[in-house]
Amino acid sequence: MTVRLGAVGAGWWATSNHFPIFAARDDVELVGVCGLGPELDTVRDQFGFGFSTGDYEKLLDADLDAVVITTPHDLHYEQAVLAIDRGLHVLVEKPVTLKADTAWDLQRRTAAAGVHFVVPYGWNYKPFTEQAKALIDAGHLGELQYVQCHMASPTRGLFAGDPNDIRALWDSETSGPSVSTWQSPEHGGGYAHGQITHSSALMFWLSGLRAATVAGRTSLGGARVDLFDSAVLTFDGGALGTLSGAATLPDINPYQVDVKLFGTEGVLLLDTERERVSLHRYDGQAWDLDIEPGSGAYECFEPPNRFIDLITGASTVNNSDASIAARSVELIDALLRSSAAGGVEVAVHP
Ligand SMILES: NC(=O)c1ccc[n+]([C@@H]2O[C@H](COP(=O)([O-])OP(=O)(O)OC[C@H]3O[C@@H](n4cnc5c(N)ncnc54)[C@H](O)[C@@H]3O)[C@@H](O)[C@H]2O)c1
Repeated sequence: MTVRLGAVGAGWWATSNHFPIFAARDDVELVGVCGLGPELDTVRDQFGFGFSTGDYEKLLDADLDAVVITTPHDLHYEQAVLAIDRGLHVLVEKPVTLKADTAWDLQRRTAAAGVHFVVPYGWNYKPFTEQAKALIDAGHLGELQYVQCHMASPTRGLFAGDPNDIRALWDSETSGPSVSTWQSPEHGGGYAHGQITHSSALMFWLSGLRAATVAGRTSLGGARVDLFDSAVLTFDGGALGTLSGAATLPDINPYQVDVKLFGTEGVLLLDTERERVSLHRYDGQAWDLDIEPGSGAYECFEPPNRFIDLITGASTVNNSDASIAARSVELIDALLRSSAAGGVEVAVHP
């Protein structure tokens, strides 16, 4: 099968990560690309899209199987709904929306339409996180009682300075990340929507939990959007947890994603920076995975590939579906509401 793919959003991330991956596959036809910038025709020619347009409806009319949505955060929801309601499979960038209700609406529409919905959360597809997930799913932790979820990123430029700094890691021939996507509160900029979306999605996928309440604070650190986030969580079922994040690692430091799950039968420690996964049980059984140094570094090759494999039937495993994404969105939505109200505890879901 050849997947007829359309793309909306042709900025920094689409052109540095997604389009090269899709263009390299024999089973993908790049039918059309939709965007706004003057570089759009260059992007069309660089990756071999059949046509370019500024009109999203025109893209959707092109007899597609699937759409990849890599626009600014606050546009994802409307664009995803239009595609899902036409029965198209969607790869929707994180955060899939900014509000809990619209995130769950996407989940419901996806289920009703019977389409694939993948969010490119790269850490959910690392072999060592998949091994950790298999150990948890085998029941080795027992019932979860406490969770720690921490993330820090070398993203001071992205959120508070020159976003082009990050092109040292992922470059595009046509554009860098735009300030309006990453640094404006009105478009969902900031560390929580931009990065904690990753660590929380990893935590929710690994644990199967859903947050119940959050009491959180964010701080700007001199920026227009949050650079630092901190929260006390409770989960459905009674587990307690902490969430933390910082946008200001020096550029030479690798990302930190640290998820620790404490259960009634054992403890899982997962650390992407120092590539550690260990699960130790109170009965003495222990797993310490052998992980290649450097393999915890962030990359996002597998999610776009998995998206196509799900559509063609080459894979049936989605580690970042609409339910994972909605649990992440509702947590961040509640964290930001809590912080705006001075750190009071708020409900994450009804
Ligand atoms: N999964 C990951 O690891 C990862 C990494 C980086 C970025 N992202 C996500 O990718 C998305 C895009 O980020 P970016 O830095 O490339 O943004 P960007 O600002 O560089 O690009 C946005 C693109 O959307 C287009 N656009 C804007 N409004 C539009 C509209 N109304 N209709 C059609 N196109 C429109 C712009 O022309 C541009 O091509 C964000 O949601 C971001 O969070 C994900």
